[in-house]
Amino acid sequence: MKMWDQISEAVKQLARGNLVALPTETVYGLAASIDHPDGILKIFETKERPFFDPLIVHIGRPEQLKDLVEEVPVAARILAEEFWPGPLTLVLKKSSRISDQISSGLDSVGVRLPNHSVTRRILRQLKIPVAAPSANRFGRTSPTEAHHVREEFPGHSFLIVEGGQSHRGIESTVVRPTPDRIEILRPGPISDHEIRRVLLEKSLEIPVVFLESSASPGHTPHHYQPEIPLVWSPTPTLSADDLGGIARNLHLKSSTYKCLELPSEAHLAARLLYQELRRLSKEPIDFILFCPPARLTGDWRAIFDRLQRASSLQL
Ligand code: TXA
Ligand code: MG
Repeated sequence: MKMWDQISEAVKQLARGNLVALPTETVYGLAASIDHPDGILKIFETKERPFFDPLIVHIGRPEQLKDLVEEVPVAARILAEEFWPGPLTLVLKKSSRISDQISSGLDSVGVRLPNHSVTRRILRQLKIPVAAPSANRFGRTSPTEAHHVREEFPGHSFLIVEGGQSHRGIESTVVRPTPDRIEILRPGPISDHEIRRVLLEKSLEIPVVFLESSASPGHTPHHYQPEIPLVWSPTPTLSADDLGGIARNLHLKSSTYKCLELPSEAHLAARLLYQELRRLSKEPIDFILFCPPARLTGDWRAIFDRLQRASSLQL
């Protein structure tokens, strides 16, 4: 299908309440219009996602935010102006426009304006925000290409919009501004340093803190897992003892493995992370070994967060 046809077909499907997989700069999302409760239900069913895990709402224009939330605090406005369109999700007190089904009964909602030209066109034409979690089965590695979504849901019947490789490669930073501090609920492509810098530039001196994952219901300790186990090791070579220990621990009959090798620069590493996990999962090996590169540059916090959750074992 040509890109223009994909865009109009996506708008049509979403307006009818059907699911559509949309490309974003972070990862692909599985979207439904917020005006269609049956579509939202299909997201949970298709992903086998527990109902306690709230969905992020995606908008095509910044002006759409005010209808979705009770109020936009100053810090949220500054961050949206700086980082939208982009990989930043703002968690704010929700308005009556957001159902309990979307927010999982919480009184807040996560909103973001994705930075992908195709998806922005779709959202602008639709004029209604969509709820969209990452387009993977619950707890699994997020898709960064259209064919990953196809592999994730064999026999699917929804449209998958082809939008190339997600250039950020990991999910958005989830931020909750409160009156006395900015809480980061999920680390992501936008770092705490960048958030602090932007607020300071606007003379807003407010602490920026990382919160434990319990504040973000879906950010569970075991998430993002590849199809075969991932083992985190401080060194690239494993002794016979290590191998025996890993096999016992993970109940493996043998212990062949390949290393997950990532570039030392954080942006590049993030872009390749999920793609590499998927590729290695298809190899005839028993587990994937991750050992951090010797020399790291940039901010690795979000990548380490995902790898920690994706690991079945840490040596
Ligand atoms: O980059 C992204 O954010 C991608 C793309 C598709 O936009 N979406 C994504 O959605 O990662 P999902 O559903 O896989 O992860 C959303 C995370 C979950 O951990 C959820 O618990 C948290 O955001 N979240 C959503 N609404 C929240 C709220 N009101 N309060 C706290 N956490 C919330
Ligand atoms: Mg997800």
